Amino acid sequence: MSARLEGFEARVADRSLRVCVVGLGYVGLPVAVTFASAGFRVVGLERDEPRAHAIARGECPIGGDEPGLAPLLVEQVLQDRLTATTDARLLHEADVVIVCVETPVEADHHRPAYRALEAATRTIGGLAREGALVIVESTLSPGTMERRVRHWLEEAGKKVGVTLAMGHCPERVMPGRLLANLRTMSRVCGGDTPRTAAAMRALYATIVQAELDEASCVVAELTKTAENTYRDVNIAFANELARVCEAVGADFLEVRSLVNKSPGRNVLVAGLGVGGHCIPKDPWLFAAAMHERASPEHALSLVPAARAANEQMPLHVSELVEEALAAQKRALAGACVAVLGYAYSRRATTSATARARPSSPRSARVGPRCASTIPSSRASPRRSTTSCATQTPS
Ligand SMILES: NC(=O)c1ccc[n+]([C@@H]2O[C@H](COP(=O)([O-])OP(=O)(O)OC[C@H]3O[C@@H](n4cnc5c(N)ncnc54)[C@H](O)[C@@H]3O)[C@@H](O)[C@H]2O)c1
Repeated sequence: MSARLEGFEARVADRSLRVCVVGLGYVGLPVAVTFASAGFRVVGLERDEPRAHAIARGECPIGGDEPGLAPLLVEQVLQDRLTATTDARLLHEADVVIVCVETPVEADHHRPAYRALEAATRTIGGLAREGALVIVESTLSPGTMERRVRHWLEEAGKKVGVTLAMGHCPERVMPGRLLANLRTMSRVCGGDTPRTAAAMRALYATIVQAELDEASCVVAELTKTAENTYRDVNIAFANELARVCEAVGADFLEVRSLVNKSPGRNVLVAGLGVGGHCIPKDPWLFAAAMHERASPEHALSLVPAARAANEQMPLHVSELVEEALAAQKRALAGACVAVLGYAYSRRATTSATARARPSSPRSARVGPRCASTIPSSRASPRRSTTSCATQTPS
């Protein structure tokens, strides 16, 4: 195959294409398992050796309740359709390389931290076979495929459009529903050329029962980061409305329901801020597209402001708790606070990114005891009881 991907659809149809998934985390493992269960031979390339070995033995390293994932992994490993390794030389055997490594932002200045992405794409550029299709599923700041991924692949020896095809197909999965989301969420297939986008569509049609839209790489990057930025900004507005309601003594839920009677309005529910893996991070990836291009006076204002508004909600809520206790002549120190809905979403199976964690310096300092329930799709919810005083402020 060349970068024109001749015969690609036929090789999708007869399942003779070999797939390599780079990074077997929350996204990469279900992607690898799903392509294997669709009939492809899949090798997972994972940097973390114990994780790679566990997956190669059919052991699922993803905690929490992920319906169907662990049995499907065992099945694919036993049927020899899926293996996992740390040996990057196996990249050479793949016709399609799917990159699912982490793309966080730096804690201090919120710019993309692409260390894993750079290492992965440079390795792929050096070791992938000529004619391979390299698809990045990791979430990217708009412009990253053209400005960085192309550059890293080419510095390592390939020529995009000539010896490699390149695409971006961002994920819409959520922990707790990884397999189900992967199969039922629509996807944007962004290609370096329309031919690449069409080939990606044929490939993803084997695992996704939903719309697959062909686009360019930058449109795919924008779509993913914009959808989560939109959510963050709307949550920030709900939180600010709630604070105005508190200040003037009105009931937020009453005001919200009346506002939403006006056509085209849909104020969200206010809360503790924004938890989870993607929504607190992706607005920074979205905004980073401007940092790299515009002079400081053209930097975005709304998106960082929404982030700041949401980030201050845990502290604000802990102040409300303190005031409510004071009204009952109780101190926060030594109080037992029940947090209902501790996890960041209904289906979350981990509290790691919950905004209800005692993350404010204030609660960590005072140290009330907290009892929390993490909702789970299982019949009996997992319970955790934790002392705020023992937790590190995040
Ligand atoms: N977790 C989610 O719910 C979710 C949802 C949608 C999109 N995403 C995006 O998907 C991407 C992956 O997220 P994740 O949650 O799966 O991350 P993760 O940290 O769970 O997994 C990343 C994996 O990649 C491995 N890795 C890193 N560099 C590597 C390399 N050079 N070679 C081989 N393996 C390497 C890591 O060891 C890790 O196991 C991110 O861009 C994220 O924003 C995540």
